[in-house]
Amino acid sequence: MLRRLHHEQPDIFAFTPANQAWAEAQMTKYPDGRQASAIIPLLWRAQEQEGWLSRPAIEHVAEMLGLAYIRALEVASFYFMFQLQPVGSVANIQVCGTTSCMICGAEDLIGVCQEKIATEPHQLSSDGKFSWEEVECLGSCANAPMAQIGKDYYEDLTTERLAEIIDELAAGNVPTPGPQNGRYAAEPASGLTSLTEYEATKPPLNASAALAVDIGDTVKRIDGTEVPLLTPWKAPGNAANSKKTTRGQGMARRSEAAVSKGASDAKLAAIPSDVGQKPKTLDKPRETGVDNLKLIKGVGPKLEKVLHSLGFYHFDQIATLSADEIAWVDENLEGFKGRVSRDDWVSQAKILAKGGETEFSAKSKKGEN
Ligand code: FES
Repeated sequence: MLRRLHHEQPDIFAFTPANQAWAEAQMTKYPDGRQASAIIPLLWRAQEQEGWLSRPAIEHVAEMLGLAYIRALEVASFYFMFQLQPVGSVANIQVCGTTSCMICGAEDLIGVCQEKIATEPHQLSSDGKFSWEEVECLGSCANAPMAQIGKDYYEDLTTERLAEIIDELAAGNVPTPGPQNGRYAAEPASGLTSLTEYEATKPPLNASAALAVDIGDTVKRIDGTEVPLLTPWKAPGNAANSKKTTRGQGMARRSEAAVSKGASDAKLAAIPSDVGQKPKTLDKPRETGVDNLKLIKGVGPKLEKVLHSLGFYHFDQIATLSADEIAWVDENLEGFKGRVSRDDWVSQAKILAKGGETEFSAKSKKGEN
């Protein structure tokens, strides 16, 4: 399926304070210079907040991670877990249409969705509460046909049962997930053929379904008000780990997270490292105007701001860095350490400082990056 950005986009995106704090904390999981590894959880959080991924949301995440926008778009458009268009406010129903489910009636389930929600996938129902789509195998083939709704699986579905489930969700209830035909889990439909001695003592629901019922939030999206584990990999007692988040507390945590790792530009400039030799830098751009440092491959919007905070505004400043000076800049790109060497900024800047083009800069100017 062709996956592209929705034709209608909001003007801006911003994480809520609580989600911003969470996102910044996620970035501290990864070694310096490897913050891009946080892209999946950050995109997911943005989607949980808004229901779908808009272009501004994807760009916001790219900026946080110092990535070219296209890199973040590649991830968002590759994985089907990311919704690139608005979804139903209550639920987006993902019907598996792969072999086992297809043989067992997936097309009839899709018929129910077409009748009760919308004729086409990714269309909103008239009340805006539901949308549906066909997805590839969800790994529950022994319980075909099935659908994922929110975070849970509804298995052994019939058309009647799926219609009831949609009605229950519309009424604000959360139907019990798991097998819908009385099966306990994925045992033979005709009943157990082994371990029969456990038949009498098994609990009413299998563990997955029981946990889903306990949580009771199949279709609830994460909104940042949950009890968070922001940085469990850090020392216990970290203020960012201790209390239930509210929006106000989220603001405070955002500051803490910034001080800890995803540090502010002001901090970056204020506490330079001693590694290498600090090059001569500028307080402000020359009168000729600031160069577009993003034409250097590896420099995204966020990294450009960091470079400005360190006093780099022009290609020739980077082109003339000595080995010791490269070491200093590499060390002081907090959150992006090692990028000067890794992406060979000096060679690129030498070409750009003379008015030439690199393959990357030429593509950037054509809007292909
Ligand atoms: S074929 Fe539907 S879950 Fe595998």
